[in-house]
Amino acid sequence: MTLKLDYSNMMISPGGISADAWRGAGPQFKTAKSGFEKLTRSGEVGFVGLPGDSGLLQQVTRYADSARGKYDDVVILGIGGSALGPIALRTALRPSGWNMLDDRARGGFPRLHVLDNVDPETIASLLGRLKFERTLFIVTSKSGGTAETMAQFVIVHEKLVAARLDLKNHLVFVTDPRQGALRPLAQRLNVPALDIPPSIGGRFSVLTPVGTLPAALIGIDIKALLDGAGGMAKRCETDDLARNPAGVYAMLQWLADTRIKKSIAVFMPYSDPLRDFADWFVQLWAESLGKKRKDGTSVGSTPLAALGATDQHAQVQLFMEGPADKTVTFVAVRERGTDVRIPAGFNDVKELGYLGGHSLGELIDIEQRATAGALARRGRPNMTITLDRVDPASVGGLMMFLELATAYAGQLYDIDAFNQPGVELGKQFAYALLGRPGADDAKKEWDSLPKPDPRLVV
Ligand code: PA5
Repeated sequence: MTLKLDYSNMMISPGGISADAWRGAGPQFKTAKSGFEKLTRSGEVGFVGLPGDSGLLQQVTRYADSARGKYDDVVILGIGGSALGPIALRTALRPSGWNMLDDRARGGFPRLHVLDNVDPETIASLLGRLKFERTLFIVTSKSGGTAETMAQFVIVHEKLVAARLDLKNHLVFVTDPRQGALRPLAQRLNVPALDIPPSIGGRFSVLTPVGTLPAALIGIDIKALLDGAGGMAKRCETDDLARNPAGVYAMLQWLADTRIKKSIAVFMPYSDPLRDFADWFVQLWAESLGKKRKDGTSVGSTPLAALGATDQHAQVQLFMEGPADKTVTFVAVRERGTDVRIPAGFNDVKELGYLGGHSLGELIDIEQRATAGALARRGRPNMTITLDRVDPASVGGLMMFLELATAYAGQLYDIDAFNQPGVELGKQFAYALLGRPGADDAKKEWDSLPKPDPRLVV
């Protein structure tokens, strides 16, 4: 088993989930799971089936095989769910500092840059140092119309044209097979396009070509990634809460938020390779669950990324003694890719001598266990996910585990976990200010907003 969830410290008394609440959880989970299964059966929500989608895997492997050896740099133009998954995969599954390694250390695979923003400083700097004739740009957008991604694309397109490069060798689109501006544009420009199935939204798309294409291009074993995810989906087929890890996670987080006022869900891997994974989780949980229910009430716990042991020196003070409004999910790793021995010596110096003979792997693991224990001792509920190792199968399994937990939690909160209506108004205002056709109503609403009061500006 590559993933284990230990939730003993969620059931602490005082401070944790009560035995009574947990006794009622089984039937509640069954209802939530069956609600989610209705969505998968109707074809509305498709992420659980991705590990078995051989057509999609073939699209990716065929393209990645044809690209082998042609590029030194791959750049993803995209944002949000189109960017965070690939970043998490690169950090978790490629050697540390991948983009700074030389060709040999990268095994001949390209560097991977993911824009995930439109800050001109970053983009100008990256575009200024790329060799375009050795660069592939992946334009990733489910909707095929996101302003930030479209702006990135138009800039890159102009540069490719100016450099007289054949677009089909330097651009590939990853988008919905039917909707959005990118699909027809692919035809018009004669650029290849890979699919994000219609039933998959941005933050649930890491196991589509959104994540698997860049992963394959930089040499990650995507078959193992998908198999790991498939194994987790299988484990979570059971209605029996006690045996369904994603069900347990969703129920605990939901009960913690709604029954014992733990409205902040900290996600804290003790692993540098999983550092960016925490940001991927934050988006998944936040954008899926922070919603208004039909009756108008607002729900959702606030995810917060932390990193062990680093944040023991930054955030753990708050987790221990600040408002008792948090759960902490630790991610521990049983076997690390490498370890570093701490040499014995300085026995006469109390602060140094005891470290000798241990290893850094031991130190980081012990610190995780010590922090979990200390939080529990102070009545602060926490749980620990343990991965056998950070490899494609475990990461795929962890992704599916958290996606399923998010989907179940959506049912428990009684909201649609798969939309994001709350970001629409800001988008419309931006369209209005940029002069996009059809944004007249938004422009009127914007103009009617109170103007900044100079007395309130310091
Ligand atoms: O999770 C989501 O749906 C969003 O964060 C999207 O990924 C993000 O808005 C980018 O959208 P798109 O992929 O359509 O360009």
